[in-house]
Amino acid sequence: MLLRPGDVVAVEEPGYPPARRLFTSLGVRVTGVPVDAEGLVVPELPDRAKLVYVTPSHQFPLGRVMSLARRQELLEWAGSRPVAIVEDDYDSEFRFSARPLEPLCTLDRGGRVLYVGTFSKSMVPAMRTGFVLAPPGLRPALVAARQLSDAHGQTAVQAALARFIEEGLFARHVRRAGREYQDRHARVTAALGRIPALDVIPTAAGLHVTAMLRPGLDSSRIAAAARRDGVAVEELAAYAEQPSRTASGLVVGFGAVDPELIEEGLALLGRTIA
Ligand SMILES: Cc1ncc(COP(=O)(O)O)c(C=O)c1O
Repeated sequence: MLLRPGDVVAVEEPGYPPARRLFTSLGVRVTGVPVDAEGLVVPELPDRAKLVYVTPSHQFPLGRVMSLARRQELLEWAGSRPVAIVEDDYDSEFRFSARPLEPLCTLDRGGRVLYVGTFSKSMVPAMRTGFVLAPPGLRPALVAARQLSDAHGQTAVQAALARFIEEGLFARHVRRAGREYQDRHARVTAALGRIPALDVIPTAAGLHVTAMLRPGLDSSRIAAAARRDGVAVEELAAYAEQPSRTASGLVVGFGAVDPELIEEGLALLGRTIA
């Protein structure tokens, strides 16, 4: 709705490949912007960007949280520019630490931020249901665009989900599943921490953990060998537009893993790396 072919869109590098592919399919120019320990490196943003896509609560795939200072810097940068920021908060339902930082959409005073969420992590990806909180001025155009694209979403699924939420069952489900995921997150973090060649990026949310490999180790050989042993880990490079310029690392998802197999599987990964 906000983009025309030839416009410039900034995404995080490394980042979420489906977002990059979606923007590319619209004929816009997608530019990867590096992320450091505090999040997106704002001075590296292309001056003419019309849209910036970010994951501040839990950077995908590295897992770090964008600092408050960086959030403010990004909003200040957006300040007088004709630019929209898409804040993808895809897994905040599963947070294992104290209170989260304020989302960009709450800090925003300029009506620049569209906050998007999904039920893919909190429920199941097959529901294909998500949501957007948009500045009021954009809502009529968003509704019109939705109607043009396919009239409306799946009303039966949405009605059932609304009832699930209203009756308190969603909150209960998230609490229960959150305890389970917290246990898996702790197991994965501890098991990866026992592998000398890995530096785990500390995280406190979500369904995956990322660890950097010591220099000189080949993540694609390691991931392929692990896969042959039945241990599915992703290369960090798979999330980068320029894999050769991305430090070597592994992304370990645990959303659908039997917790009893985590220690054994990651011990096997450790032996593979050794
Ligand atoms: C960064 C990010 N955004 C969004 C999603 C969810 O997307 P969808 O709602 O299309 O399933 C995911 C799921 O893996 C994700 O990792």
